[in-house]
Amino acid sequence: MPFAKPSFATALTLASTALFAADKPGAQVYNETCIVCHHTGILHAPRMNDDKRWHKLVKEGLDELVPAALAGIRHMPPKGGNPNLSDQEVANAVVWMVNQHGGQFAPPSPEQVKTWRAQADRRKKH
Ligand code: HEC
Repeated sequence: MPFAKPSFATALTLASTALFAADKPGAQVYNETCIVCHHTGILHAPRMNDDKRWHKLVKEGLDELVPAALAGIRHMPPKGGNPNLSDQEVANAVVWMVNQHGGQFAPPSPEQVKTWRAQADRRKKH
């Protein structure tokens, strides 16, 4: 049998997998970082099973929630205290969290994430 060289197609698949792997999906980010506070509600974080509180948050909308999660809000540290998360990953997690509570938001685009980052930076200065 000839030595099996990885085909061009395999290389392409690997390359695109790596690209898509760069930003983690919201559920994974939640399970790795946000769950620490948002599962139990410590520090008065909105608990994931507190539907009433989340319904109010869903109404506030992503333009309020994502900048808050990026910049931090009261007892919540910026990015939930995990600076290794990209802005996109934090936004993915927020979308995932609100979509567990009746939100119907599409995955955030890089343009939206840029706008939210600018809003988060403005918030920090106040
Ligand atoms: C160290 C604990 C902690 C971690 C970890 C944490 N949060 Fe929070 N989060 C809080 C607390 C506390 C609040 C409530 C802040 C308040 O309103 O007083 C909050 C509130 C929020 C809100 C509502 C913001 C608003 O405008 O009221 C969102 C959205 C949120 N967190 C998203 C996230 C995401 C996404 C992650 C993971 C990347 C995360 N949190 C990780 C503690 C945490």
